[in-house]
Amino acid sequence: MTNRSLVRSVPTFILVSILAVACTATTQQSQVPSGREFGSLISSNANVMIEEGRQTFRYDTFGDEGFWSDAIRLHQAFAGAVQGGVAPAVSPQTALSVGLKVDAAVLPKELVTLIMAGKVNMDDPATTLALLKLNAVVGLKGTSNNDGSLKSVGITCALCHSTVDNSFSPGIGARLDGWPNRDLNVGTIISLAPDLSPVTGLLGVDEKTLKQVLAGWGPGKFDAVVFMDGKATRPDGGSGATGSVNATSSMCDAMPRISASSSLERRGATRAASASASELSKTR
Ligand code: HEC
Repeated sequence: MTNRSLVRSVPTFILVSILAVACTATTQQSQVPSGREFGSLISSNANVMIEEGRQTFRYDTFGDEGFWSDAIRLHQAFAGAVQGGVAPAVSPQTALSVGLKVDAAVLPKELVTLIMAGKVNMDDPATTLALLKLNAVVGLKGTSNNDGSLKSVGITCALCHSTVDNSFSPGIGARLDGWPNRDLNVGTIISLAPDLSPVTGLLGVDEKTLKQVLAGWGPGKFDAVVFMDGKATRPDGGSGATGSVNATSSMCDAMPRISASSSLERRGATRAASASASELSKTR
């Protein structure tokens, strides 16, 4: 290209570029939504994201079955000896006593009727299994084998950072996401797992010592240092556990504490059931 033609082609290039940009701008201009439309688009995007976040918070285990089931075999504590697990399996009464919560919203109507009629055996581990399969135990996600037996369990954020409003009975009700579960005894739940060797191996302590440490946490507390940093106790020998209370302190301090003696709770308290878990399975 000669110098002269270069000189001529530069302005042409600039003109074409300006036209191209102008045309694009005009096209975009014609696609701009009205302010009102755009406002509601933002709202619906926000709602979608809140719903997705809620699903993740409540139900996503991020694959932690690898620890809870593959390593320490916690699911076997729920499966019971009959289904290839260990005895004694966890009854719903035990599950509630270690602070696990049940999401009443996912219980089928027939089951609710049976529970209210006192016809569901809350001492039968099969009932716990049925609740797990319904995805009704807050923060505990069970996966089944093809034959219906329990394959694995994982935990979600909701296990420690949600509770229920006890509107059905103590420990059973509507979810309260982001409310710390101050009753949850994580230490005792971990102690239920049949194989603690991955943890004792990590800590270099025997099972008896580990169980003492776990028993020292108490309700509402969990010590990430044990699992993340491999230290059973603080340097001074005390428990390193901090509360799921503290976990959401910035959230829960600002919110009123739920009344522990609501009439709904009292109504439900008398409802611990008898009858058999086969009643329960009939409803599914
Ligand atoms: C086994 C119980 C447990 C589970 C499960 C759990 N957390 Fe926590 N979380 C805690 C505890 C206990 C603390 C407080 C730690 C401390 O104070 O040292 C905490 C702290 C937090 C904090 C800090 C809150 C604050 O006010 O400082 C956030 C945020 C948080 N967790 C989010 C999550 C998310 C998201 C998940 C799921 C991916 C999750 N947690 C799962 C027990 C748990």
